[in-house]
Amino acid sequence: MDRPIRALAKTMRQRLRPGLVRDLLHGVPTGKPAHPPLAQAALGCWISATLLDAAKADQRAVRLLLAAGIATSLPTAAAGLTDWSSLHQEQQRVGFVHLAANVLALGLFSGSLLARVRGRERAGRALSYAGLAAGGFGGYLGGHLAYRMAAGANHAPQVSHLVPLGWHDLCLLKDLPDGRPVSRRLGYISLFVLRRAENVTVMVDTCPHLAGPLHQGRLVEEDGEACVVCPWHGSTFRLDDGSVRHGPATAPAPTFETRLRKDGTIQVRPSLT
Ligand code: FES
Repeated sequence: MDRPIRALAKTMRQRLRPGLVRDLLHGVPTGKPAHPPLAQAALGCWISATLLDAAKADQRAVRLLLAAGIATSLPTAAAGLTDWSSLHQEQQRVGFVHLAANVLALGLFSGSLLARVRGRERAGRALSYAGLAAGGFGGYLGGHLAYRMAAGANHAPQVSHLVPLGWHDLCLLKDLPDGRPVSRRLGYISLFVLRRAENVTVMVDTCPHLAGPLHQGRLVEEDGEACVVCPWHGSTFRLDDGSVRHGPATAPAPTFETRLRKDGTIQVRPSLT
């Protein structure tokens, strides 16, 4: 399935250029991926509808829940596809089956609602149960993607666990090229280090999206703010505070405070913000 996967991912990336809509679908404004809570809403409605069916409850409530699940599944799919288009190939393979299972579930629940509207309650119930099986499988794969394959997780190291508080010697200012980011080690982690004259910007070198090397990224200016663009999928981070300007990343890149000792050594400590 790699060819259709590549084609679909490419189409998604071409249609949805970096900007407000794409950032909204990734969940950049909230700092969390938008797809998982939307998916919970859709699947929650469908599970509730099926439970009410099993309990032979009021059919108007069942229809309302089915319709709400169908309506919610559209933004859910848009957010999921947007995230999926910027994943690794292995993640995209699982994501593709996840997508297929959920499209099947959407079709079955839509068929169920249609059958009920036409008075065919029994067929509607059967389609709902089949939809729940497909949606449940899709949800299981979604969990696998998130928890086992770490799609959507924050990949930036938690510096508070890896770097003790306080100041640490990093390197000499004169050893840094001016205006070009480089990578430097600090204990267990790699840091993005950018010297601009006497100013030095330091943040974690690992992109929070999927761990791309930020020091290989492009330096750009967005609305007058200096930013770095990840070379892998284009997440854009402000150099001042590591916050996300554009996704797919939703978590910020941890930054460090810097100071210069008299002998020219740059010292860093984790920012508390
Ligand atoms: S690794 Fe995907 S945007 Fe950086």
